[in-house]
Amino acid sequence: MELIDVIKNRRSIREFKENEVSKDLIEDLINCARLAPSAKNRQPWKFVIVQNDIKNEIANIMLENTTNNTSKYTAKTIKEASILILVLKNKNDNWIIGDTLSIGAAIEHICLRATDLGLGSLWIRDTVYIQKEIENLIRIKNMEMICAVAIGYPNESPNSRPRKKLDEILEWYK
Ligand SMILES: Cc1cc2nc3c(=O)[nH]c(=O)nc-3n(C[C@H](O)[C@H](O)[C@H](O)COP(=O)(O)O)c2cc1C
Repeated sequence: MELIDVIKNRRSIREFKENEVSKDLIEDLINCARLAPSAKNRQPWKFVIVQNDIKNEIANIMLENTTNNTSKYTAKTIKEASILILVLKNKNDNWIIGDTLSIGAAIEHICLRATDLGLGSLWIRDTVYIQKEIENLIRIKNMEMICAVAIGYPNESPNSRPRKKLDEILEWYK
């Protein structure tokens, strides 16, 4: 697919088929994350793949610890997804903005490449409410989990969600 088509076709996918995503495709996604730019080329990231029981346990912890409907729906999506990518960031108080921006770039590489490969992705912040529980579950040390990405074969093809118009966000300084 042309890059512009990948950008236009990417959607947040919240319903997945049961088919598993192969190890080769998962490695392809993380390789694309690896190629993202990062502040000072710090590459402050790590990606932990969870599947099956651990993935479902994370979804269950989310269900137990939340009363908000968005998180419940996100937990259901995590259960349906073939894999959940936990996105970890180096702990470093002096680099919070640079490192967080860098990780955003890496995640978008994952989401765009997923679209290119016919996969669906959901970028997930709702894991923030159970950050400590997840960190304990997979014994993360010296890093922090900042978000997650669910990946699987899409079982829906949503229309594009509303966007602000170009003239609302673009200003030419004169
Ligand atoms: C940083 C970030 C966090 C997000 N967290 C969640 C989430 O926890 N649960 C969810 O269902 N969607 C989440 N989304 C998806 C957004 O809701 C979605 O990108 C937005 O509504 C636009 O839709 P689109 O991605 O289909 O264009 C997140 C997106 C981003 C960029």
